[in-house]
Amino acid sequence: MHAQKFEELAKTPPMGWNSWNTFGTDISEDLVKGIADKFVELGLKDAGYEYIVLDDGWMTRERDENGNLVADPEKFPSGMKALVDYVHSKGLKFGLYNCAGGTTCAGYPGSRGHQYQDARLYASWGVDFLKYDWCDTDELNANESYLTMRDALYKAGRPVLFSICEWGDNEPWKWAKDVGQMWRITGDIINCWECQIGHGSWFSSGIWPIIEMRMNTNIREIAGPGHWNDYDMMEVGNGMTDAEDRSHFAMWSILTSPLMMGNDLRSMSKETTKTLTNKEVIAINQDALGIPGLRFSNENKLEIWVKPLENDGWAVTFVNRNDTPVELDFDWNKHPIGDDVSQHFMESDKNTFEVRDLFNHKNLGTTKKNLKATIGVHDVLMVKLSKK
Ligand code: GLA
Repeated sequence: MHAQKFEELAKTPPMGWNSWNTFGTDISEDLVKGIADKFVELGLKDAGYEYIVLDDGWMTRERDENGNLVADPEKFPSGMKALVDYVHSKGLKFGLYNCAGGTTCAGYPGSRGHQYQDARLYASWGVDFLKYDWCDTDELNANESYLTMRDALYKAGRPVLFSICEWGDNEPWKWAKDVGQMWRITGDIINCWECQIGHGSWFSSGIWPIIEMRMNTNIREIAGPGHWNDYDMMEVGNGMTDAEDRSHFAMWSILTSPLMMGNDLRSMSKETTKTLTNKEVIAINQDALGIPGLRFSNENKLEIWVKPLENDGWAVTFVNRNDTPVELDFDWNKHPIGDDVSQHFMESDKNTFEVRDLFNHKNLGTTKKNLKATIGVHDVLMVKLSKK
């Protein structure tokens, strides 16, 4: 049997929740159960979220005498298998984290030298998703390291979505298409709009620095059904304004990033729930063509991004990066929206589209008239254009 990646996974960007942004290594079975319950109760499952992923810190500091990883018995007294069963019983899928290096980024045992053994353990627990990090890797070759783990997962026989996390350092968009279903393109996200915060040898980035970091690299040409650029777990609900959260969610959607929530679902506000469960915005992210959006313009700090959709539709986001509201008066006929890469062109002189506001759930008329709106500070107007 020739090893390969599991091909049928992630035809649209993966959706789920990951523990890291809010909880770091402070995770437990009660937390996971609480999150799984909220997936169902709050309509997140119904909106399409599927994976619950435990990030770094789920294991003990040492492997056991047979070299196996051990779920920390204090954090997971019932054991990992029972927890995976609980998540599966809710109709959801379960993910774990490890690392290609000798240790994980938080200093727990990594998979280096144990890839096949670890893959068999995950399969025996019923794990559906593996996030695989890149700390403590010295001289390792990234492409080869991720291929080894991919092959190990394949040989273990249980379909596992493979999430590559090497921060874009080794240009995964050039080699990861046949290795995993998603790959991080940047270092870690942080819950701010424009900031970058240094931590010595690395830095974390807010929403716009993350979006812009690889803009001059041809990453959008590569992503598509089965393999996605990962802009990192979301910070929606983690302290930015509701407007910033909406814009963040709209951008992750139009960029076809995986939508991995990173907040505490057990205590989120009504407004956060409303943003995260917005099915009209999620439908843009999950559009079957899987074409990542592109920047149309950012004149006067009004970010206009467009994305071709199936049935000749388009999604368009107008995000206000200014610290004052802007008045939008957009003439579709004067703006030739198109995508040279996927060869989709709106041709507004020949075609008319219905315009639908995806956050206010309202029809706004057609592209025959100008789109007029006031867009608040750091807020977004996101519309879908459907051809008449
Ligand atoms: C790295 C990753 C993060 C997270 C931590 C865990 O920084 O990029 O997403 O997984 O490690 O230690």
